Amino acid sequence: MSRITEEYIKKHPKSAKLAEAGLDLFPGGVTHDNRRFSPFPVYMDRGQGAHKWDVDGNEYIDYRIGHGSMILGHSHPAIVKAVTEAIAKGSHLSSSTELEVKWGNKVRELMPSVEKLRFHNSGTEAVMMAFRMVRVFTGKTKIIKFQDAFHGWADGPYVGTDLDQPGNGIPEQTRETMVILPYDLGAVERTLNSDSDIAAVIFQGNVVIEPTFVQKLRVLTERKGVLLIIDEVVSGFRWSRSGAQGIADVTPDLSTMAKILAGGLPGGAVGGRAEVIDTISKGKIAHPGTFNANPLSAAAGSTALSIVANEPIGEIALGNANRLKAGLNDVLTKLEVPGCVYGVSSILHTRFGADHECDHTYCKEGAKAKGGWSKDAKDVLVQALANRGVYAWADSMILSAAHTDELIDKTVDAFEDSLNAMRADGTI
Ligand SMILES: Cc1ncc(COP(=O)(O)O)c(C=O)c1O
Repeated sequence: MSRITEEYIKKHPKSAKLAEAGLDLFPGGVTHDNRRFSPFPVYMDRGQGAHKWDVDGNEYIDYRIGHGSMILGHSHPAIVKAVTEAIAKGSHLSSSTELEVKWGNKVRELMPSVEKLRFHNSGTEAVMMAFRMVRVFTGKTKIIKFQDAFHGWADGPYVGTDLDQPGNGIPEQTRETMVILPYDLGAVERTLNSDSDIAAVIFQGNVVIEPTFVQKLRVLTERKGVLLIIDEVVSGFRWSRSGAQGIADVTPDLSTMAKILAGGLPGGAVGGRAEVIDTISKGKIAHPGTFNANPLSAAAGSTALSIVANEPIGEIALGNANRLKAGLNDVLTKLEVPGCVYGVSSILHTRFGADHECDHTYCKEGAKAKGGWSKDAKDVLVQALANRGVYAWADSMILSAAHTDELIDKTVDAFEDSLNAMRADGTI
């Protein structure tokens, strides 16, 4: 066993114990597949700003930051106040509330393509509803999505993700409603020409691709009378105040949202052209949901969106990402470790172990580069970083406005130390 892994085990005795209990309760020991980790995951206790502390008292600079939902950092005082006030008044009033109107208006203010919307409890639900709406509105069945794009774990949207496989419970009839294409506008055009049953194309706003792609996709879909859904679950309120559509200057028919939308609480929304959203009120689509627009999510969400609207939150997070990206790439160059850190906004992606050309933005060569670190090597990197007070995934790092230059510089040092330690014990 690597010395890094030995140190990780030594530093986390309470996490190890909880992981044992977790294994008895939950498949794989976890409640989200991305938290599955070898030898066991860290169990967190609390977060503040860009920091988290685990059950063993270890402190971390956090780069998973609420799976992208905490662009303000953990326990932002305004969110804590809003949620505390809301829970004292009742967490579920089984009725419409002033808070939901405030929340809806904030979304509309930030995302001009949203004429009307409905709230849900997650991005997965928002995408499910968007699919239903486009089918009812157009009278057509199929939806085009792009290879490996992730739009949540519901049956249709999950088809064509990198983990999708036969026998995973998705009915064949559902698979037939999805058309999975490469990021190739020619392929989209050919499909739209040959198949008259396409209701919509869904595009993942946070995919690392030039904005011209979605601009051309908008022109193409409009010309063919097919709806365009932009999935802004990750990119919404982060890529720009209005998401990826703001960067590309594109108006989709529908947008799906979650994460930052609800200020770190559960929440999702589908919004867009009133006549498409109104397929619900015309009685064709039912939309119940016990916790839709619940007061706690509405309070956190409207507060978070007000802060995003009035303060340079996205801009600070992007500046932090750029500083981190430059620092990590410098370390790779200095230590002559093949690989890169790249990305277009305040979420960074990595590719370690494969020699390739990279502009640190789109990394076109890297996408084709063969080889690269094994899963085991990536796990050891995550352990090495955790041992040095940095909590990240090996493939991506998410920034917030709560990170600072000092924390980023510490992270770069921890990365250099980690690579040196991995080299010293023969992992790389
Ligand atoms: C682009 C995208 N769409 C949809 C989803 C699903 O959102 P949720 O996890 O809130 O169901 C995710 C989740 O990460 C996502 O990244």
